[in-house]
Amino acid sequence: MLNRMKETADSGLSRRRFLSGALAAGAALTLADRLALAQTMASGGLTAKDIHGIGVEPGLVRMALNENPIGPSPRALEAIAEHMFNINRYSFGGGDIYGALAEFDGLELPPPPRFGGMGGGGRFRREAPFYITAGSGALLSQIALTYLSKGGTEVIEADMGYGDISGDAENYQEAGLDVNIIRTPMKDYRHDLDAMLAAITPKTSVVVITNPNNPTGTLLSFEETEKFVAAVPEDVLVVIDEAYIHFVRDPQYRTAASLTTKYENVIVTRTFSKVFGMPAMRLGYGICSQSIQEKLRFYRTGSANALAMVAGEASLKDRNHYDRSRAVVQHFRDRLEDEFTKMGLEYIPSESNFMMVDLGKPSMNIMREMFRKGVMVTNRRREQMPTWIRVSSGDERETEVFLNVLKETLGKTS
Ligand SMILES: Cc1ncc(COP(=O)(O)O)c(C=O)c1O
Repeated sequence: MLNRMKETADSGLSRRRFLSGALAAGAALTLADRLALAQTMASGGLTAKDIHGIGVEPGLVRMALNENPIGPSPRALEAIAEHMFNINRYSFGGGDIYGALAEFDGLELPPPPRFGGMGGGGRFRREAPFYITAGSGALLSQIALTYLSKGGTEVIEADMGYGDISGDAENYQEAGLDVNIIRTPMKDYRHDLDAMLAAITPKTSVVVITNPNNPTGTLLSFEETEKFVAAVPEDVLVVIDEAYIHFVRDPQYRTAASLTTKYENVIVTRTFSKVFGMPAMRLGYGICSQSIQEKLRFYRTGSANALAMVAGEASLKDRNHYDRSRAVVQHFRDRLEDEFTKMGLEYIPSESNFMMVDLGKPSMNIMREMFRKGVMVTNRRREQMPTWIRVSSGDERETEVFLNVLKETLGKTS
């Protein structure tokens, strides 16, 4: 009897190992295999030990940093491989990331300068509405330096917004600069744009919106955003951080990119770290007027590297990878909504690649216990939301492991 049980367990295990291997190798699965996999997942059998996520060590399910579980576009990797033998040279162009950005964001580029040289169609293309940086975090810092670091300034950001720019402002304050920080409360976990407008004073230099917001995952409509922008005084910079805009469910959703041509005081920030899956390459950009770019350039401390630029250009052109990234996130959100509802947990429906969920008891111990079981999530907002965690998208199998480990841990911790 004992032997029979062991045999059954062994064959289940080896089948699971086979399936993990087959999936990792991208092998075509038969219908029977798919059914077996679905059964393994449904029976709660998957653990972190079964997982070898892309870009992390085996056995770790990293769902804490809003990364892309399917990795970067294969076309980006090809572009890096093609250009890696030239890195002994300074790069003056090559490729046309500006053209790719214009196409992707539906914006027009001015004609290239008549004399090619260093300013040709490539890397240093002036007059383009794109300001490229080594990651969008670097751009947010540059915005803070440009608009807040002289003192006599003020920034307005939602109290549960991303908080990078107001965080920099806090540092300036500590260094003795006269910088005022206003953190407006959110309403139903969304930006309260009326409250943000009402908070503007003659001292205000910058207003920041993160859309979709991190960590709440909530979204403002184009119409709400435009109405807000139109009401903000022209001498106040409006930052619209669209790091996660590509994950919005509605494929017809209008981003704020077009507002940057209509309003001189608007900058939309974007990153290649999320839907394009290449945070380690450090590439981001702002979409904005020339007058904003001129101000930012004064504080420029470096540029994005050539490999990041060619990889970025290739990613922008790979619609297939973009669609796959979106589909993985959609599956993750559907799966979590379904299970959280069954478990009776409150969650915030997300338009992004992560979700906030209320565990109903202090999240710190639960998070630690989950980490011991190989699953990494975060409770970065523990001061404001001590019983919540934020979980970032995993692929199909990682998501199942997260759910298994969460259920098990919640059952055991008081
Ligand atoms: C809202 C938001 N903006 C900006 C960033 C910075 O991204 P990166 O510097 O990788 O481009 C992040 C990173 O997680 C983010 O969540």
